[in-house]
Amino acid sequence: MSILYNEEKKTITLYTKNTSYQMRITSHGFLQHLYYGKRIESEDMSYLFHDYDRPCSGNPEETYPDRTISLDTMTQEYPGYGVGDYRIHALAACNVDGSYGADFRYVSHEIIPGKYDLNGLPSSYDSDGSAETLKVAVYDKVTKLTLELLYGVFENEDVITRTVRIKNGSDNIIVLDRAFSMSLDIPYGKWDMMHFHGKHALERQPERENLTHLVKTVESRRGTSSHQENPFIIIADRKTNEESGSCYGMMLVYSGSFEASAEVDQFENTRVVMGINDDQFAWMLEPGDSFDAPEVIMTYSGEGLSRLSHVYHHFIRHNICRGKYQFARRPILINSWEAAYFDFTDETIVKLAEEAAPLGIEMVVMDDGWFGQRNSDNAGLGDWYVNEDKIKCGLKRLVEQVNERGLKFGIWMEPEMINEDSDLYREHPDWALAMPGRQATRTRNQLVLDMSRKEIVDYVYGCMEKILSENNIEYLKWDMNRSLSDVYSIALPPSHQGEVMHRFILGIYDLMDRITTNFPDVLVEGCSGGGARFDAGILCYSPQIWCSDDTDPIQRLRIQYGTSFGYPVSTVGAHVSASPNHQTGRSTPIYTRAVTAMAGTFGYELDPGKLSDEEKESIKDQVRIFKKYYDLIQSGLYYRLSEIGEEPYTAWESVSEDGSEALLSLVVSDTQPNQALINLKLKGLDPQGIYEVTDESEKYRLKLPAFLAPSTEEERKIFSGDALMNAGYTLPWMLGDYPAIQLYFKKIR
Ligand code: GLA
Repeated sequence: MSILYNEEKKTITLYTKNTSYQMRITSHGFLQHLYYGKRIESEDMSYLFHDYDRPCSGNPEETYPDRTISLDTMTQEYPGYGVGDYRIHALAACNVDGSYGADFRYVSHEIIPGKYDLNGLPSSYDSDGSAETLKVAVYDKVTKLTLELLYGVFENEDVITRTVRIKNGSDNIIVLDRAFSMSLDIPYGKWDMMHFHGKHALERQPERENLTHLVKTVESRRGTSSHQENPFIIIADRKTNEESGSCYGMMLVYSGSFEASAEVDQFENTRVVMGINDDQFAWMLEPGDSFDAPEVIMTYSGEGLSRLSHVYHHFIRHNICRGKYQFARRPILINSWEAAYFDFTDETIVKLAEEAAPLGIEMVVMDDGWFGQRNSDNAGLGDWYVNEDKIKCGLKRLVEQVNERGLKFGIWMEPEMINEDSDLYREHPDWALAMPGRQATRTRNQLVLDMSRKEIVDYVYGCMEKILSENNIEYLKWDMNRSLSDVYSIALPPSHQGEVMHRFILGIYDLMDRITTNFPDVLVEGCSGGGARFDAGILCYSPQIWCSDDTDPIQRLRIQYGTSFGYPVSTVGAHVSASPNHQTGRSTPIYTRAVTAMAGTFGYELDPGKLSDEEKESIKDQVRIFKKYYDLIQSGLYYRLSEIGEEPYTAWESVSEDGSEALLSLVVSDTQPNQALINLKLKGLDPQGIYEVTDESEKYRLKLPAFLAPSTEEERKIFSGDALMNAGYTLPWMLGDYPAIQLYFKKIR
């Protein structure tokens, strides 16, 4: 039993392996939050709270004239707006008479085996039959809104998920101006917020800020989870580091505009709220209808950030990702984008397959440019039929030709978009999002289809279905190359326009659901101008997402470092591209590019016809290394061994859960003369174990000049786990531009 109700104390406690979460139904029916943190056995945590008469904090009607009870100071499970709690709130509802007030009291609760589902929204699932759901119903007697506060308890995974279902029991429309998924009150303390900001081609850069009495907000208003912020935050005690300290993670399972805010209140308690951004959000909740908010995945770690990351990595792999490729080996692919951009024909793609096959590459992906009049990024989106001037043999034959060469075939689509220069737009100019009287803002010369309309989703599904069912396509790169603007749907009356942003996302999820259900063997890779929709919502449909349009391996170190706080390696789309790199112009060795891409799904994005024989041999070796360590890399515990920007190198380690093997990877971004001896400390090994090290990178390193080289002394290969973790492994002196190493440690006894 992971959920316990104590009838006498009126507490409900949620237990996971290492955490507990407690709330209490007060004698007046308030749902008070008591505790979330390291697991505490069967204790009533209400002793932590004392009620005092606080000047300027008002009192609810039930407790009046007692001046010591105030919603303004109480820790609450789900605070409403307008009734005396002045802190950031989770819900704002406008009644038919224009009054804003949402004041909820406990009605009932249920403990249900299994995990709740949400209407129209993706969410985590119970993979081993051990999850439980707590449903607490609270009611506001004026608006007649009932909230079902939903808590999914994943005991073994150390995860609690939260969300809310809002039901309108009145005879009137109630406008939801804010319907956040959760609120968490953390008592007295000094906390930081980590968030992951960025831009196109440099996503998910960690930033750590002290939480203060200012409200700090992380958000996207772009209709995508965005390049600029990620719907994932960490609230960490000021002293928390990788190995120690308290921290909470909150990750929204949602791919549209979101908000996460944190505020330290007047009594030094911290409140954190998270949900759909209420900018451009106003949901007209009809009588009898209900609204589901997206889910938040929460965890608490008392052992620092590495442990918190491990919880998310495991949970995303086991309880978010699904389908054939959840755990199955994914093919090593070569993508045509950086190899040819729009300049290709069927022959180019067949040649790519011919060049790739002997290197061990397993799939060719035909990226943008194969359909309609798509000869540049100015035209063709929406016309999902093959351009026979370019693909002269037709799509079916092209796929066959690739298959005949022993490779799978993958394709690129951008289903949510439309160019004005397209047959689809000429036929349906009113299918694009646009505000009356305004020319819709163009980005990359494209507009956005109004996916809030079912007939448009149906049409797009029909196009995709045709392509996927008529051809042996085994992979789909699902792109989305702009933020939303001009969000207005001609299908809805003026009073409902505040629903369009969210309905758009519901339309996308419906489409993704249909595609993945009806084509379960197709591996879908999410993409949004690189990493603008790198979120747990998309991961419910596609087990991997193109992490960034920046394929420069040195920049990728930063991007993948930030991404690793919340998301596992198995989700990170990463390719080896040409040198000099097309985004930065930087030249790097091909082996270094491969080491970086191996901290992801691994593939190629270049023209092998332009490579030297030596580089081709290196690719064969890279494929061998990646296949050899695939399971360790994809499912091992991932440790960040350096902090970006703090060292001349970036290092990370994948270690099996039992500590019997580990792969250490390191890339030097700043080669120095007269190098210091760096003893890199490994993690997660068996301290009593004896390990043998294999250096996979030796042949790719420049030889030290004779006057620097060590004597004839033989290099040591056997070490104890204790020594490797506490004293470290001494790195070799590495010369040249951006050298890299990969060391494999195997426990031999
Ligand atoms: C986006 C993607 C790229 C590529 C192009 C094609 O930018 O992130 O990988 O597919 O679109 O237009």
